[in-house]
Amino acid sequence: MMHTVLLDKAKHNRRHFDCGIEPLNHYLKVMASQQGKKDNTRTFVLEDEHDSTILIGYYTLTMTPIDLTALPDALQKKHQSASSGGLIARLAIDDRYKGKGFGEWLLIDALRKLVSASDSVAFPMVIVDAKDGAKHFYERYGFQALQDAENKLFITIADVRVSFE
Ligand SMILES: CC(C)(COP(=O)(O)OP(=O)(O)OC[C@H]1O[C@@H](n2cnc3c(N)ncnc32)[C@H](O)[C@@H]1OP(=O)(O)O)[C@@H](O)C(=O)NCCC(=O)NCCS
Repeated sequence: MMHTVLLDKAKHNRRHFDCGIEPLNHYLKVMASQQGKKDNTRTFVLEDEHDSTILIGYYTLTMTPIDLTALPDALQKKHQSASSGGLIARLAIDDRYKGKGFGEWLLIDALRKLVSASDSVAFPMVIVDAKDGAKHFYERYGFQALQDAENKLFITIADVRVSFE
């Protein structure tokens, strides 16, 4: 069965990862492991089933402030005392593995982890930082654009929970 593991720089071959977007490649190669060590972000990877040193894709999770004014009115009121949301800071699939459902699988895996985190340290929504074309990818799964933030989308934890039921 497929499962994600924490990025392990001693094991995983990060140099050959190429999702076509250089900042996302660079983050995995240079930043992700250090940032994890410092407890600033957490990066999970999906390994190729035939060679666990090869990475199919990765995502990075952390927290981010909620900009209440970017939310629809009803949600602004409901969450006015909340300060942070879970952030899918990055999510990328290597070019050789695109279009096979791995992106969807990784997104669902990330959302499961975030719902579970929210069960312990409540936060009301997940925010995602989507690069240009990827916005439509997230909209397919119920993410909505934040107002005045071109590349940021959100989904409430409540809606994620419902979709998992
Ligand atoms: C966006 C990305 C994660 C999708 O991964 P993937 O493994 O190719 O996607 P999947 O095969 O799981 O696709 C799932 C569904 O989303 C659709 N989809 C994939 N990319 C899409 C996009 N950019 N826009 C809209 N829909 C998209 C697929 O057609 C598929 O739909 P279907 O089930 O009806 O066929 C991947 O293309 C990627 O890594 N892109 C570069 C990095 C990036 O932009 N990351 C996001 C911002 S940080």
